[in-house]
Amino acid sequence: MSETSGKKIAIVLAAGKGKRMGTDMPKQFLHINDKPVLYYSLKAFQDSSIIDEIILVIGKEYQEYCQREILQPNGITKVKTMVEGGAERYDSVYAGLKACKDCSYVFVHDGARPFVTDEIICRCMETVQTAKACVVGMPVKDTIKIADADENIESTPSREKVWMIQTPQVFEYELVYQAYTEMLKSNATGITDDAMVVESFSNQKVKLVKGSYENIKITTPEDIKIAQIFCKKN
Ligand code: CTP
Ligand code: MG
Repeated sequence: MSETSGKKIAIVLAAGKGKRMGTDMPKQFLHINDKPVLYYSLKAFQDSSIIDEIILVIGKEYQEYCQREILQPNGITKVKTMVEGGAERYDSVYAGLKACKDCSYVFVHDGARPFVTDEIICRCMETVQTAKACVVGMPVKDTIKIADADENIESTPSREKVWMIQTPQVFEYELVYQAYTEMLKSNATGITDDAMVVESFSNQKVKLVKGSYENIKITTPEDIKIAQIFCKKN
């Protein structure tokens, strides 16, 4: 399973509809300082010396637009393949995984997470070589409560043990591919990230790697305002 001589491939996910943002145009195409959110996410992997290739998971109806408006004018040459996504994030990830050829390590990244840095990508690479599976996250700042169905507090996990999870999520390719194949054969529900798939459908532990508090996912309208501030600063 430790096939480590193949390519390091980034799967960038841009096939979501962005329901929580509530705009007609999916959030990954909204502009921050004159460039689409997706541009920044792709550019980080384009510029990383670790990444050999990018697989972009994106709706068929946006592929031509993306080629013309994002990839071509900005020299994003590592996107060799665009594949259509699926109904759920995990379907889109699986579509990306199936398109990987000769891959040793795969970096799954949300296209709606524009401020991933080379430093974070490097930390992941270093960690995954020994840990086989790692995901980026940060310790939470707020106290987290677990609620019951009536919105009463059920419990309070100790804050030192609670992390908010970001992407990239990085794995040995065969490990994550097998785990996804098993998950899709099962009737699992509520899968919201890749770590969950490996946690539940393999025996591999998943290591946490520090990301950054700026590595936000654009999800709701106020995130656009925050992104504009982070973007001006850089
Ligand atoms: N994504 C995807 N395919 C899906 C769902 C999500 O490629 N079927 C991508 C999104 O484009 C995004 C990332 O996965 O880059 C994280 O998902 P999320 O923030 O949930 O995006 P959406 O599903 O688009 O938003 P919402 O849940 O608000 O509808
Ligand atoms: Mg979603």
